[in-house]
Amino acid sequence: MEYRAAVITMSDKGSQGLREDTAGDAVVSILKENGWIVDYRTLILDDMDKIKAELIKCADELKVALTVTTGGTGFSVRDVTPEATLAVIDREVRGIPEAMRAESMKITPMGMLSRAAAGLRGQTLIVNLPGSKKAAGECLQVVIKPIKHGVDVLRGESRDCAQMYLNHDGK
Ligand code: MTE
Repeated sequence: MEYRAAVITMSDKGSQGLREDTAGDAVVSILKENGWIVDYRTLILDDMDKIKAELIKCADELKVALTVTTGGTGFSVRDVTPEATLAVIDREVRGIPEAMRAESMKITPMGMLSRAAAGLRGQTLIVNLPGSKKAAGECLQVVIKPIKHGVDVLRGESRDCAQMYLNHDGK
């Protein structure tokens, strides 16, 4: 199967041309290094309706297997990416942000401040990452390998989990 992904950056400053999207660049590089084809990329305002519309477009129209968002997971009043994600998913996948926060906490106590969520809409997995290049890269590296297996199962193309365990040493 083709592993097609979309990358959405949430940044008020970025979408006004006031800041470069280095986090989005880092996410795209990590996805490509792990065999993903990045079919779609956009940079939008931290706006609930805009974020929901982009997440729905990626799942329902573009039908990518994975949508990765970066930014808008913190405590600012404009940080609404997790709420927009939870509003459009059918099923939550708590283990993904749990794992990201657990590993992030080994790097910085600030890891607990990301409210990132993840979930499934139809045949698309949506994963939120924090907004800085460093944080987004660190968090994506934690989950990038297991999510491929999750997407295989979601799309009915799974090899069994025991085989995955043998192949990947459980990581
Ligand atoms: N996670 C990792 N791995 N590394 C980091 O440096 N920074 C944290 C946290 N998660 C960080 C991290 C900080 S400082 C914040 S405020 C939150 O992510 C939310 O980031 P966001 O508002 O850019 O989404």
